[in-house]
Amino acid sequence: MNVTKVKAPLPGPQGKILLEKWHRFEADVVGFQAPVVWDHARGCVVTDVDGNTYLDWTCGVLVTSVGHCHPHLVAAAQKATARLLNNYESANVERVAAAERLVKALPPHLDQCFFLSTGSDATEAAARLLKRKSGKFEILSFECGFHGRTLHAASMGGMAGPKRGYGPTVPGIIRAPFPNPYRDPYGWCDDGPEFKKYFAHLDHVVMANSTGSLGGVMVEPYQGAGGFIFPPPGWLKKLEEWLRQRGLLFALDEVQSSYGRTGKMWALEHENLKPDVIAIGKAIGCGVPVSAIAATSDLFSCLGKGELSSTLGGNPVASAAVCAVLDIYEREPLVENSAKMGVYMKSRLQEMAATCPYLGDVRGMGLVMGLEFVKDKQTKEPAPELIKPLIVDCANHGLLIGSVGMYGNVIRVAPPLVITRAEADESLAIMAGALTRLKL
Ligand SMILES: Cc1ncc(COP(=O)(O)O)c(C=O)c1O
Repeated sequence: MNVTKVKAPLPGPQGKILLEKWHRFEADVVGFQAPVVWDHARGCVVTDVDGNTYLDWTCGVLVTSVGHCHPHLVAAAQKATARLLNNYESANVERVAAAERLVKALPPHLDQCFFLSTGSDATEAAARLLKRKSGKFEILSFECGFHGRTLHAASMGGMAGPKRGYGPTVPGIIRAPFPNPYRDPYGWCDDGPEFKKYFAHLDHVVMANSTGSLGGVMVEPYQGAGGFIFPPPGWLKKLEEWLRQRGLLFALDEVQSSYGRTGKMWALEHENLKPDVIAIGKAIGCGVPVSAIAATSDLFSCLGKGELSSTLGGNPVASAAVCAVLDIYEREPLVENSAKMGVYMKSRLQEMAATCPYLGDVRGMGLVMGLEFVKDKQTKEPAPELIKPLIVDCANHGLLIGSVGMYGNVIRVAPPLVITRAEADESLAIMAGALTRLKL
């Protein structure tokens, strides 16, 4: 039996009132989303204030991987809330447990962590570590990349959106192209696993732009906000080899790729990468605000007392969430389901692409996939104008989706990792229907 039920067109009567009030009192400065006011959610199913039910391919934005409001997580956060909400730069029972649990869940070479609140906090902190350890001030990052909206994080990013209109970015960021198998006019994806042309160009970028103070590299395992761009297999490993040969430090932004999203607990496992530091966010708290960096203790040792600190980082509620989320990963086959359901959903979406004239590319691994929309499959001209109608049409039929991409033309497919075959089939049928109604 289907779980989705929507009285279209959206927004419903309660939703309409709340959306109007929301925009009256809170600045309307976020990106476009389906006109739905969420009331409650469980697993993959969201219910809005008018009683409509939807299947969720958003997870917020890749956050609620264990499923919305997992009872174990809710209970742990409630219990911690009643005892102690905050302390500062101090231990608390939950914080100590969370640190131990997180380190034990990490790849073995990363033997310490530090808790913060947002993904941007984490990438900023990782950048600090690169600079303090190396004693250098330049960082190499990538065009189309996204590491957050605070100034240093946005500066490392390679998307204009978070930077346009705010004047100069942080000095010392050198940006290189990121290989994009769907759009590769210069052949950066050619001749893997050596990628000779690409890495010769990377040397050229550094030679032309560095003042001689390059300390490290910041990269995402796949570019999320940039459009769910997955580099060709072997490229990240080659990048690691390239940077090690040059004595550079390696920061991997796993803010959205970790906790099983790609079908492995950590995306770095796909190519056995050994970064010096990783930034972790989103699913680490599955909805409770918390982030972290994890690094080698050798790397952390470059920081003195008080150099990394945070008002809310390590608070008992967030820390209880870290532990509860890891409990759930130990008890439930989330990572396996991500890998398995990912293969299934991707093949079904690829079948849809074969008959939809605008669905130019279906890509991804595990339960993170991008659907790239184009005006013409030959020219690959981006079709961002299809995205809003598609989001609204899917919502009207019971599926919540969101968009990303340098050109604003990519739909993200990122359901909770608990999605069942029946939920996948029902949501895929809604997408299939919406694609048949899509018109330029
Ligand atoms: C790869 C990556 N890094 C960093 C961030 C920033 O996280 P936050 O919005 O929690 O600051 C994001 C958010 O989407 C992200 O996808």
